Parts: sequence; structure tokens; C-alpha cells
Amino acid sequence: MIQTIRGTKDILPGEISEWHFLEEAFKRITQQFGYKEIRTPVLELTEVFSRGISEGTDIVGKEMYSFLTKGKDPESVTMRPEMTAAVVRSVTQHSLLHHDPTLRLWYAASFFRYEKPQKGRQRQFHQFGAECIGSPNPESDAEVIILAATVLKEIGITEYTLAINSLGNKTSREKYRTELISFLKGKFDELSEDSQNRLEKNPLRVLDSKDAKDKAATKDAPSILDFLDEESDAYFKNVQEILKESDVEFTVNPRLVRGLDYYNHTVFEFLTTKLGSQDALGGGGRYDPLFAQLGGKETPAVGFALGIERLLLLREQNKVQAEVLKPDVFIIGDASAKLIQKIALRLRQKNLYVLTDLLRKSFKAQMKESNKLGARYTIIFGKQEEEKGIAIIKNMETGVQTEYPLKEIADFQF
Ligand code: HAM
Repeated sequence: MIQTIRGTKDILPGEISEWHFLEEAFKRITQQFGYKEIRTPVLELTEVFSRGISEGTDIVGKEMYSFLTKGKDPESVTMRPEMTAAVVRSVTQHSLLHHDPTLRLWYAASFFRYEKPQKGRQRQFHQFGAECIGSPNPESDAEVIILAATVLKEIGITEYTLAINSLGNKTSREKYRTELISFLKGKFDELSEDSQNRLEKNPLRVLDSKDAKDKAATKDAPSILDFLDEESDAYFKNVQEILKESDVEFTVNPRLVRGLDYYNHTVFEFLTTKLGSQDALGGGGRYDPLFAQLGGKETPAVGFALGIERLLLLREQNKVQAEVLKPDVFIIGDASAKLIQKIALRLRQKNLYVLTDLLRKSFKAQMKESNKLGARYTIIFGKQEEEKGIAIIKNMETGVQTEYPLKEIADFQF
């Protein structure tokens, strides 16, 4: 039997109501916040991510699905591991900011990372995310965080904490980086091999390593918050004030640095203790350097992404599941198929969800099916009814049966 590739999953019809429920919530809430959907190709030139996310990160260094295209002039292309760099590419390519100085964009899409699969971690996974592009002000950082928190609330997820931090502006970050490297060099022998390798390239990442050795070695590492200059400090305080005023609870975690290199100022993560080692439901931050990194005009921007599979796992654990859509009408009986199909179509044209039996099962079996599916009405339409030109409409809740002229059946108030 041929099976799905490791780390990928089918989304089966039995699970689809949950996906639809989440997607509808994203659509509704993003609309309330004025965000418009953007869709970009799954494949991008590799440089979108290698320049955008940076070579020193796990995503670019180890996890990308990249390959050379066929043909005379092969190009290195990558199946997108995330959306932010792709959105920046698209906004620049189409000069979208030209017409609209603040762009509010959202997406729900699939992404690819060659990671070790485990609960809540797949090689093909889905994110819902939003990007607010064009504003250099803390209210836009707060807006995207509030948007994410609103989504979580609306889909019934409350068991998380929101951690926020500031990586400051470039000057603050560079000062901190120098200090941190010198601190880490002093602890070199106590660090894991991964962190030793990262020390110069990506020292901030050493701080959020999950390795026990690294955790112990960096216990007394300097805090970025002590290196924020006045501007960065005021910016971060401003974000916090807006969040507080909107009743969004958070904790400041000075070790939160995130796994992508394009961030400055605010970074944040929605964390849960309910999913084992995959504790991040989502994350994001401000990424002012990214536009220029990808060859565009310098542009301030901030955004986030939530992992859809992780949201679904939490809902499943909490035993909250979206309602499965039930048929309005199930037509049963042994009347001629052409008439049954004609009635079904007429009712569907009235916006009703109508099912018919396609297996020519017995009357009893068809009635059982209608019951099982929870149809609101069953139309009984056998040979006898066909001869009389009527149908029997049964209200499945009350059990009341009404004879109705076939010709007028579409006028019945189902
Ligand atoms: P990220 O932290 O890499 O951020 O991913 C966001 C979320 O996607 C994670 O918190 C997690 O829930 C989910 N996720 C990531 N990898 C996997 C995986 N292998 N399997 C299942 N779920 C996963 C970004 O991608 C940034 N683009 C977010 C952002 C938007 N920053 C600014 N704007």
C-alpha cells in the first residue's frame, strides 16, 4: 500500500469541519481588523528565504526543501518554510505599498520544513498568519498581537501564555550581541555543540536552546532589556501599555529571541504546556530589516503566525469540536431516479443541503441513514407517491408527516 510521506498527513473528510471552523474564524476576525487575504506560490526562489531568514538559522541551514529546476538554466527553488519572506517579496514585486501606505494582510497556507516529525510537528504543516506592513509605530505591534489573541479566544483556546520581549533597534542589539558573545565565550566548554557552533553566527539563539547544558550555562547571561536604548525602551513600554489597556495578558521574557533572524523590537510567542515539547502555538514580531534584506525599500512591518495543527490538537484535547453540517433534507424511496434527482436539484437551488441514496438500498436502510446523518427532514418518495404525484415530508424532530403535492415541493418551508 502506498502511504503518505513521513511528516505529512491527509486531512480526511471526518476532520474537515474543524478546519472549516478555524478558517471561517480567521476570515471573520481578520475582516473585523481590516486585513485582506494574500496567496503566494508554494515555490519561491531559494534566495527569498536564504536572504530573508538568514543562513545561520535552523530553517535555512537544515530544514528547507530546496531543489534545482530542470531545463537549460536550472534555478534553486524552495518549498516555502514560512510566509513572511514570501509576503515581503510579493509586496515589493507588485509595489503594493504604492497604493496603500499600510497593508494589512492575512493568509492560511501550508508550509514545509524538514524537521523530525513528532506530535504537533510535521514536515508539511499549516499556519494562519497576518502581517501589518508600513507602520513604524507600537500600535501596529499591539494590533497584530491583539488580533492573534482574539483568534485564540474565538476558537476556544485559553490555556496559553503570551511571552513578549524586545530585541531593540539595531544599535541596542549590536551592543547586546557583542556583550553576549563575550559572555558565551567565557562559558564555551559548558555549551552544547550546537550552541558552540552558533556562538558567533547567531548568539541570541543560544539563549532559547532547549538543551539542559545550555540552559545551565546561560543562567546568568546578560539580559537584552538592560541594553535597550531610550527609543527602544520607550517603544517596548508603549506596546505593553496598549496590550494592558486591551486586557491582553502577557509576561516579559528577556530570553525570547525566536528562530528567525529578521526580527527587531517586539517579538512574541503564544506558549502552551499542553502539547509536550512543541510548546509554541504561534509567534511573531517586528521585522523592519526584512524588506531591505530582500532588495526592497526599507519598510517597517510586524506580524505573526499560528500553527493550525497545534490549535487543532488543543481543541481535540479539550473535546471541543466544530459541529458537522447536517443535511436539511434526505430523499428516500424507490420512485424513479430521474424524478428523485430532479426534486433534489430543485431544493438545492433553494440553498438547501439535500442528499439522496445512490445505492438503491431498502426503504428501511435509507430511513436509517437519514436518521444517522441527522437530516432535519426526510422526503419519502416511493412508487406509490410517484403515481399519486405527491411526496411525504417527515419532520425528523417532531415525527410529523405531511403529504405535499410534488409540483409545489420547492415551496415547502423546510
Ligand atoms: P514560526 O515561529 O517559525 O514563525 O512559526 C509559527 C508557528 O508555526 C509555530 O509557533 C508553530 O505553531 C507552527 N509551526 C512551525 N513549524 C511547525 C511544524 N514543523 N509543524 C507544525 N507546526 C509548526 C514564522 O513562521 C513566522 N513567519 C511568523 C511571523 C509572521 N513573524 C512575523 N510575521
